[in-house]
Amino acid sequence: MKTGSIALTNIGQLVTNDPNRDGLLGIIEDGAVIVEDGVIRWLGLSADMPEPAHVIDCEGAAVLPGFVDPHTHLAYTGDRADEFGRRLRGESYEEIMAAGGGIQSTVTATRAATTAELTAGTLERARRMQSAGTTTVEIKTGYGLDLENEKRLLAVAAAAGSAVALDVVPTFLGAHAVPPEFAGDADAYIDHLIEVVLPECAPLARFCDVFCDEGVFTVEQARRVLLAGKDHGLVPRLHANQLARSGGVRLAAEVGAISADHLDHLEDEDIELLAGAGTIAVLLPGVSFSLRIPYARGRDLWDAGVPVALGTDCNPGTSNIETMPFVVALACLEMGLSPEQAVWSATRGGALALGLDDRGWLVPGARGDLVVLAHPSYVHLAYRPDAPPVARVIKRGLQI
Ligand code: NIG
Ligand code: FE
Repeated sequence: MKTGSIALTNIGQLVTNDPNRDGLLGIIEDGAVIVEDGVIRWLGLSADMPEPAHVIDCEGAAVLPGFVDPHTHLAYTGDRADEFGRRLRGESYEEIMAAGGGIQSTVTATRAATTAELTAGTLERARRMQSAGTTTVEIKTGYGLDLENEKRLLAVAAAAGSAVALDVVPTFLGAHAVPPEFAGDADAYIDHLIEVVLPECAPLARFCDVFCDEGVFTVEQARRVLLAGKDHGLVPRLHANQLARSGGVRLAAEVGAISADHLDHLEDEDIELLAGAGTIAVLLPGVSFSLRIPYARGRDLWDAGVPVALGTDCNPGTSNIETMPFVVALACLEMGLSPEQAVWSATRGGALALGLDDRGWLVPGARGDLVVLAHPSYVHLAYRPDAPPVARVIKRGLQI
């Protein structure tokens, strides 16, 4: 990816997330920042800025590190508005899934799509994410569920990363559902996944994920996949406690997962377990919003010392939501995070959930990924949830 040099001045609130500065967000008021060759070189007061070449006057707007979205299912084809309507008329997500809808319908559409169609749809979503300030995004497979299609989705994710100025972090989620050719025999599918699919997909991915939940994959099956993934060099993370309190949190702690994601069903002891294990909690309020179910206990996790990250979970079923500013608004208005906690979780928290220490904060040497808000304060992300949130996006020093 190309890099550039740029300087921003007259920033009303410069959110650095630097723990050596004051408060959770380490804000510099009336700040300025210089990016050289894609990397942060200098931050400080506008009045103190050395004279750089290309300066943008932010006219008092707030500037944040680019959003890092650590959990998406972006690579797919198909529309599930019909199913969404059925849910609004009273059916549950689980009922639709048990009747062969849900993930299976997207698998059917994705397998039938040409690679060009699949890439075009994924790119469109990636572009919209980027213009809303996301500068790094995790993309999972999971709508292919066979060797050819899982590999195809990893290739599509990589293509999205090179076509759009967005860093893509690929995750292998072959254990997202049991495909029709293994219907009724999840164990046989897990064997196939470990023996045939994983070895060829692992070199194309960084993380391994499993949908470990009631009616999907058991803790035992998830453990097998995550450990096999580890043997192939993939770092474990998992869909845990999304539909029920199904043991995913305990498994995440046991296998040393970098994150446990969703976490909609948590007891106090699960929170203690996550805190003790140092697992990052990736919370996805767009799912609760879209399924109209209770929100995860974000504030309790935070208060217990669990690092929290926020993501879109962008997918055609449970969260057809692409933008992080909207997720920040939901996290504040519905999940009970403070604006500071939500902004940190959508930037630094997301970076840590992806094991990336070079972004999600603005310190000398970090990536020059910045988002200039269309607002004087980050609080406006929740205060004006339906206003266009972003004025400019800067990726590695280049305005995009
Ligand atoms: O994160 N939990 C599993 N996967 C997605 C839903 C996928 C779908 O419904 O297509 C999720 O909610
Ligand atoms: Fe998910």
